[in-house]
Amino acid sequence: MINRPRRLRLNKKIRSLVRETSLHPQDLIYPMFVTEGRGVKQEIAAMPGQYRWSVDMLPAAIREVEEAGVEHIMLFGIPAPEDHDECGSAAWASDGIVQRAIAEIKSHSDIFITTDVCLCEYTSHGHCGQLDADGYVNNDKTLELLAKTALSHVEAGADMVAPSDMMDGRVAAIRARLDEAGHVNTPIMSYAVKYASNFYGPFREAANSAPQHGDRKSYQMDYHNGREAELEAALDVAEGADIIMVKPALPYLDVVARLRPQIKQPMAAYCVSGEYAMLQLAVSQGLVQPDIIYESHIAIKRAGADIILTYFAKELAWTLRAAQQQEVKQ
Ligand code: PBG
Repeated sequence: MINRPRRLRLNKKIRSLVRETSLHPQDLIYPMFVTEGRGVKQEIAAMPGQYRWSVDMLPAAIREVEEAGVEHIMLFGIPAPEDHDECGSAAWASDGIVQRAIAEIKSHSDIFITTDVCLCEYTSHGHCGQLDADGYVNNDKTLELLAKTALSHVEAGADMVAPSDMMDGRVAAIRARLDEAGHVNTPIMSYAVKYASNFYGPFREAANSAPQHGDRKSYQMDYHNGREAELEAALDVAEGADIIMVKPALPYLDVVARLRPQIKQPMAAYCVSGEYAMLQLAVSQGLVQPDIIYESHIAIKRAGADIILTYFAKELAWTLRAAQQQEVKQ
Protein backbone atom coordinates (compact mmCIF):
# COMPACT_ATOMS: atom_id res chain seq x y z
CA MET A 1 0.00 0.00 0.00
CA ILE A 2 1.53 3.33 -1.04
CA ASN A 3 -0.80 5.76 0.66
CA ARG A 4 -1.59 5.36 4.31
CA PRO A 5 -3.28 8.52 5.62
CA ARG A 6 -3.29 6.88 9.04
CA ARG A 7 0.50 7.44 9.28
CA LEU A 8 -0.16 11.08 10.01
CA ARG A 9 -2.72 10.22 12.68
CA LEU A 10 -0.57 7.87 14.70
CA ASN A 11 -0.02 10.05 17.73
CA LYS A 12 -0.75 13.48 19.11
CA LYS A 13 2.53 15.05 17.99
CA ILE A 14 2.22 14.02 14.36
CA ARG A 15 -1.43 15.07 14.34
CA SER A 16 -0.61 18.50 15.65
CA LEU A 17 2.16 18.86 13.03
CA VAL A 18 -0.27 18.39 10.15
CA ARG A 19 -3.27 20.15 11.68
CA GLU A 20 -4.84 22.57 9.20
CA THR A 21 -7.10 24.64 11.42
CA SER A 22 -6.66 26.33 14.76
CA LEU A 23 -8.75 28.46 17.06
CA HIS A 24 -7.36 31.17 19.31
CA PRO A 25 -9.03 33.31 21.96
CA GLN A 26 -8.13 36.37 19.88
CA ASP A 27 -10.34 35.09 17.05
CA LEU A 28 -13.42 35.47 19.22
CA ILE A 29 -15.90 38.26 19.79
CA TYR A 30 -18.22 37.91 22.78
CA PRO A 31 -21.71 39.42 22.34
CA MET A 32 -23.15 41.14 25.43
CA PHE A 33 -26.53 42.69 26.21
CA VAL A 34 -26.81 45.91 28.18
CA THR A 35 -30.01 47.02 29.83
CA GLU A 36 -31.35 49.86 32.00
CA GLY A 37 -31.39 49.72 35.80
CA ARG A 38 -28.81 49.20 38.52
CA GLY A 39 -27.30 46.01 39.81
CA VAL A 40 -28.95 44.00 37.04
CA LYS A 41 -27.52 40.64 36.02
CA GLN A 42 -30.52 38.91 34.58
CA GLU A 43 -30.25 35.52 32.93
CA ILE A 44 -31.86 35.24 29.51
CA ALA A 45 -34.33 32.36 29.71
CA ALA A 46 -33.78 31.14 26.16
CA MET A 47 -29.99 31.48 26.47
CA PRO A 48 -28.93 29.84 29.75
CA GLY A 49 -25.58 31.25 30.88
CA GLN A 50 -26.06 34.57 29.06
CA TYR A 51 -27.19 37.73 30.83
CA ARG A 52 -28.58 41.21 30.47
CA TRP A 53 -26.26 43.55 32.36
CA SER A 54 -26.94 47.04 33.63
CA VAL A 55 -24.26 49.61 32.85
CA ASP A 56 -22.87 49.66 36.42
CA MET A 57 -22.36 45.87 36.31
CA LEU A 58 -20.39 45.93 33.07
CA PRO A 59 -16.88 46.60 34.40
CA ALA A 60 -17.00 43.43 36.52
CA ALA A 61 -18.53 41.46 33.67
CA ILE A 62 -15.82 42.68 31.31
CA ARG A 63 -13.13 41.68 33.81
CA GLU A 64 -14.42 38.11 33.57
CA VAL A 65 -14.26 38.28 29.79
CA GLU A 66 -10.68 39.54 29.90
CA GLU A 67 -9.68 36.97 32.50
CA ALA A 68 -10.81 34.29 30.11
CA GLY A 69 -8.49 35.79 27.50
CA VAL A 70 -11.16 37.26 25.22
CA GLU A 71 -10.16 40.65 23.83
CA HIS A 72 -13.26 41.68 21.87
CA ILE A 73 -16.91 42.22 22.69
CA MET A 74 -19.98 43.11 20.69
CA LEU A 75 -22.50 45.31 22.46
CA PHE A 76 -26.28 45.18 22.07
CA GLY A 77 -28.46 47.78 23.75
CA ILE A 78 -31.84 47.09 25.29
CA PRO A 79 -33.46 50.48 26.01
CA ALA A 80 -36.33 51.00 28.46
CA PRO A 81 -39.74 50.23 26.90
CA GLU A 82 -40.76 53.91 27.16
CA ASP A 83 -37.77 54.88 25.01
CA HIS A 84 -39.03 52.99 21.97
CA ASP A 85 -40.49 55.11 19.19
CA GLU A 86 -41.41 54.93 15.50
CA CYS A 87 -37.93 55.68 14.20
CA GLY A 88 -35.82 54.31 17.05
CA SER A 89 -34.36 57.65 18.11
CA ALA A 90 -32.90 56.24 21.37
CA ALA A 91 -30.41 54.39 19.14
CA TRP A 92 -28.42 57.55 18.45
CA ALA A 93 -29.00 59.45 21.72
CA SER A 94 -25.67 60.59 23.13
CA ASP A 95 -26.86 59.34 26.54
CA GLY A 96 -28.41 56.15 25.10
CA ILE A 97 -27.89 52.77 26.67
CA VAL A 98 -25.06 51.66 24.36
CA GLN A 99 -23.33 55.04 24.46
CA ARG A 100 -23.31 55.00 28.29
CA ALA A 101 -22.18 51.38 28.33
CA ILE A 102 -19.22 52.16 26.06
CA ALA A 103 -18.13 55.06 28.24
CA GLU A 104 -18.40 52.98 31.41
CA ILE A 105 -16.46 50.06 29.95
CA LYS A 106 -13.76 52.27 28.48
CA SER A 107 -13.21 54.04 31.77
CA HIS A 108 -12.16 50.69 33.28
CA SER A 109 -10.72 48.68 30.41
CA ASP A 110 -9.33 48.93 26.90
CA ILE A 111 -11.20 45.87 25.64
CA PHE A 112 -12.01 46.22 21.93
CA ILE A 113 -15.66 47.24 21.59
CA THR A 114 -17.69 46.60 18.49
CA THR A 115 -21.27 47.81 18.48
CA ASP A 116 -24.22 46.33 16.66
CA VAL A 117 -25.77 49.13 14.63
CA CYS A 118 -29.47 48.49 14.13
CA LEU A 119 -32.81 50.02 15.04
CA CYS A 120 -34.94 46.98 15.87
CA GLU A 121 -34.17 47.13 19.60
CA TYR A 122 -35.27 50.79 19.61
CA THR A 123 -38.32 50.98 17.33
CA SER A 124 -41.84 50.57 18.71
CA HIS A 125 -42.69 48.18 15.84
CA GLY A 126 -39.48 46.11 16.16
CA HIS A 127 -38.42 46.46 12.53
CA CYS A 128 -34.85 47.38 11.62
CA GLY A 129 -35.73 50.70 9.97
CA GLN A 130 -38.27 53.45 9.51
CA LEU A 131 -41.68 52.36 8.24
CA ASP A 132 -43.72 53.88 5.43
CA ALA A 133 -47.48 54.27 5.93
CA ASP A 134 -48.02 50.90 4.24
CA GLY A 135 -45.61 49.16 6.63
CA TYR A 136 -42.73 48.92 4.17
CA VAL A 137 -39.31 49.44 5.75
CA ASN A 138 -38.08 52.52 3.91
CA ASN A 139 -34.52 51.81 2.86
CA ASP A 140 -33.21 55.25 2.03
CA LYS A 141 -34.73 57.10 4.98
CA THR A 142 -33.29 54.45 7.29
CA LEU A 143 -29.74 55.01 5.99
CA GLU A 144 -29.59 58.42 7.63
CA LEU A 145 -30.71 56.99 10.98
CA LEU A 146 -28.15 54.21 10.84
CA ALA A 147 -25.35 56.63 9.95
CA LYS A 148 -26.31 58.80 12.94
CA THR A 149 -26.39 55.76 15.20
CA ALA A 150 -22.98 54.50 14.05
CA LEU A 151 -21.44 57.94 14.52
CA SER A 152 -22.87 58.26 18.03
CA HIS A 153 -21.34 54.89 18.98
CA VAL A 154 -17.95 55.94 17.65
CA GLU A 155 -18.16 59.29 19.41
CA ALA A 156 -18.91 57.41 22.64
CA GLY A 157 -15.71 55.41 22.13
CA ALA A 158 -16.61 52.31 20.08
CA ASP A 159 -13.64 50.79 18.23
CA MET A 160 -15.64 49.28 15.38
CA VAL A 161 -19.24 49.39 14.16
CA ALA A 162 -21.23 46.49 12.78
CA PRO A 163 -24.41 47.32 10.88
CA SER A 164 -26.90 44.43 11.06
CA ASP A 165 -30.01 46.00 9.52
CA MET A 166 -29.59 44.76 5.92
CA MET A 167 -30.62 48.04 4.27
CA ASP A 168 -29.02 48.51 0.85
CA GLY A 169 -26.26 51.10 0.83
CA ARG A 170 -25.80 51.36 4.59
CA VAL A 171 -22.08 50.61 4.59
CA ALA A 172 -21.45 53.52 2.21
CA ALA A 173 -23.73 55.80 4.23
CA ILE A 174 -21.98 54.94 7.50
CA ARG A 175 -18.50 55.20 5.95
CA ALA A 176 -19.30 58.65 4.57
CA ARG A 177 -20.65 59.89 7.90
CA LEU A 178 -17.72 58.54 9.91
CA ASP A 179 -15.19 60.00 7.47
CA GLU A 180 -16.91 63.38 7.47
CA ALA A 181 -16.53 63.46 11.26
CA GLY A 182 -12.87 62.51 11.00
CA HIS A 183 -13.20 58.87 12.03
CA VAL A 184 -11.42 57.59 8.95
CA ASN A 185 -9.70 54.80 10.86
CA THR A 186 -12.77 53.26 12.47
CA PRO A 187 -13.49 49.98 10.71
CA ILE A 188 -16.88 48.69 9.64
CA MET A 189 -17.67 45.01 10.06
CA SER A 190 -20.68 44.49 7.88
CA TYR A 191 -23.32 41.86 8.54
CA ALA A 192 -23.12 41.57 4.77
CA VAL A 193 -24.70 38.16 4.41
CA LYS A 194 -27.47 37.97 6.95
CA TYR A 195 -30.25 35.53 6.37
CA ALA A 196 -33.86 35.89 7.56
CA SER A 197 -33.31 33.04 9.99
CA ASN A 198 -35.29 31.20 12.63
CA PHE A 199 -32.06 30.87 14.55
CA TYR A 200 -32.40 34.44 15.93
CA GLY A 201 -35.39 33.53 18.14
CA PRO A 202 -33.62 33.52 21.53
CA PHE A 203 -31.84 36.81 20.72
CA ARG A 204 -35.14 38.51 20.02
CA GLU A 205 -36.38 37.38 23.41
CA ALA A 206 -33.16 38.69 24.97
CA ALA A 207 -33.39 42.07 23.23
CA ASN A 208 -37.19 42.43 23.04
CA SER A 209 -36.70 43.06 19.35
CA ALA A 210 -39.15 40.74 17.61
CA PRO A 211 -41.13 42.59 14.91
CA GLN A 212 -44.65 43.41 16.14
CA HIS A 213 -46.08 42.53 12.74
CA GLY A 214 -44.76 40.66 9.76
CA ASP A 215 -41.19 39.41 9.50
CA ARG A 216 -37.80 40.56 8.24
CA LYS A 217 -37.98 38.81 4.89
CA SER A 218 -38.17 42.03 2.88
CA TYR A 219 -34.69 43.02 4.03
CA GLN A 220 -32.83 39.97 5.38
CA MET A 221 -31.80 37.34 2.85
CA ASP A 222 -33.84 34.37 1.69
CA TYR A 223 -32.12 31.27 3.02
CA HIS A 224 -32.78 29.37 -0.17
CA ASN A 225 -30.13 31.52 -1.85
CA GLY A 226 -26.39 31.00 -2.00
CA ARG A 227 -25.34 32.91 -5.09
CA GLU A 228 -27.00 36.04 -3.73
CA ALA A 229 -24.49 35.94 -0.87
CA GLU A 230 -21.76 36.65 -3.41
CA LEU A 231 -23.67 39.72 -4.58
CA GLU A 232 -24.32 41.04 -1.06
CA ALA A 233 -20.69 40.54 -0.03
CA ALA A 234 -19.34 42.17 -3.20
CA LEU A 235 -21.59 45.20 -2.76
CA ASP A 236 -20.48 45.72 0.83
CA VAL A 237 -16.82 45.36 -0.14
CA ALA A 238 -17.36 47.98 -2.84
CA GLU A 239 -19.00 50.28 -0.27
CA GLY A 240 -15.98 50.01 1.99
CA ALA A 241 -16.72 47.21 4.45
CA ASP A 242 -13.50 46.21 6.22
CA ILE A 243 -14.76 42.84 7.45
CA ILE A 244 -17.50 40.72 5.90
CA MET A 245 -19.76 38.69 8.14
CA VAL A 246 -21.96 35.69 7.42
CA LYS A 247 -24.82 35.01 9.81
CA PRO A 248 -25.90 32.48 11.11
CA ALA A 249 -22.79 30.32 11.08
CA LEU A 250 -23.20 26.55 11.46
CA PRO A 251 -26.13 26.01 9.08
CA TYR A 252 -24.45 28.37 6.58
CA LEU A 253 -20.92 27.02 6.37
CA ASP A 254 -21.43 26.40 2.66
CA VAL A 255 -21.87 30.15 2.28
CA VAL A 256 -18.72 30.91 4.29
CA ALA A 257 -16.73 28.43 2.19
CA ARG A 258 -18.22 29.78 -1.02
CA LEU A 259 -17.28 33.38 -0.22
CA ARG A 260 -13.82 32.61 1.16
CA PRO A 261 -11.92 32.53 -2.17
CA GLN A 262 -13.73 35.66 -3.40
CA ILE A 263 -13.32 37.93 -0.40
CA LYS A 264 -9.88 39.36 0.31
CA GLN A 265 -11.11 41.08 3.46
CA PRO A 266 -11.18 39.16 6.74
CA MET A 267 -14.37 37.17 7.15
CA ALA A 268 -16.42 36.74 10.29
CA ALA A 269 -19.21 34.29 11.08
CA TYR A 270 -21.79 34.74 13.83
CA CYS A 271 -22.76 31.63 15.75
CA VAL A 272 -26.15 33.05 16.73
CA SER A 273 -28.49 32.68 19.69
CA GLY A 274 -30.40 29.68 18.31
CA GLU A 275 -27.18 27.82 17.62
CA TYR A 276 -26.04 28.61 21.15
CA ALA A 277 -29.34 27.46 22.64
CA MET A 278 -29.28 24.16 20.77
CA LEU A 279 -25.69 23.30 21.62
CA GLN A 280 -26.02 24.46 25.20
CA LEU A 281 -29.18 22.45 25.79
CA ALA A 282 -27.78 19.28 24.25
CA VAL A 283 -24.63 19.56 26.36
CA SER A 284 -26.48 20.41 29.58
CA GLN A 285 -28.78 17.42 29.10
CA GLY A 286 -25.77 15.17 28.71
CA LEU A 287 -26.89 14.16 25.22
CA VAL A 288 -23.52 15.08 23.69
CA GLN A 289 -20.02 15.74 25.00
CA PRO A 290 -19.08 19.37 25.80
CA ASP A 291 -16.30 19.08 23.18
CA ILE A 292 -19.03 19.47 20.59
CA ILE A 293 -18.73 23.21 21.23
CA TYR A 294 -15.04 23.36 20.32
CA GLU A 295 -15.60 21.09 17.32
CA SER A 296 -18.41 23.32 16.04
CA HIS A 297 -16.21 26.42 16.23
CA ILE A 298 -13.35 24.61 14.48
CA ALA A 299 -15.84 23.80 11.71
CA ILE A 300 -16.61 27.51 11.35
CA LYS A 301 -12.92 28.30 11.01
CA ARG A 302 -12.30 25.39 8.66
CA ALA A 303 -15.04 26.73 6.39
CA GLY A 304 -13.02 29.94 6.10
CA ALA A 305 -13.99 32.36 8.86
CA ASP A 306 -11.16 34.30 10.51
CA ILE A 307 -13.33 35.73 13.27
CA ILE A 308 -16.17 34.12 15.20
CA LEU A 309 -18.84 35.96 17.11
CA THR A 310 -20.05 33.53 19.72
CA TYR A 311 -21.79 33.34 23.08
CA PHE A 312 -19.36 30.51 23.87
CA ALA A 313 -16.36 32.88 23.64
CA LYS A 314 -15.47 32.84 27.33
CA GLU A 315 -15.67 29.10 27.85
CA LEU A 316 -13.88 28.43 24.56
CA ALA A 317 -11.07 30.74 25.59
CA TRP A 318 -10.73 28.94 28.94
CA THR A 319 -10.70 25.58 27.17
CA LEU A 320 -8.08 26.75 24.69
CA ARG A 321 -5.83 28.06 27.44
CA ALA A 322 -6.15 24.89 29.48
CA ALA A 323 -5.30 22.82 26.39
CA GLN A 324 -2.27 24.99 25.69
CA GLN A 325 -0.97 24.64 29.26
CA GLN A 326 -1.37 20.90 28.98
CA GLU A 327 0.77 20.90 25.82
CA VAL A 328 3.48 22.94 27.52
CA LYS A 329 3.63 20.53 30.45
CA GLN A 330 4.01 17.45 28.26
C1 PBG B 1 -30.32 43.09 15.11
C2 PBG B 1 -29.63 41.80 15.30
C3 PBG B 1 -30.20 40.51 15.45
C4 PBG B 1 -29.13 39.65 15.71
C5 PBG B 1 -27.96 40.41 15.68
N1 PBG B 1 -28.30 41.72 15.43
C6 PBG B 1 -31.60 40.07 15.42
C7 PBG B 1 -32.38 40.08 14.18
O1 PBG B 1 -31.89 40.43 13.11
O2 PBG B 1 -33.55 39.78 14.29
C8 PBG B 1 -29.23 38.18 15.99
C9 PBG B 1 -28.15 37.64 16.90
C10 PBG B 1 -28.44 36.30 17.47
O3 PBG B 1 -29.47 35.65 17.18
O4 PBG B 1 -27.61 35.86 18.27
N2 PBG B 1 -30.90 43.26 13.87
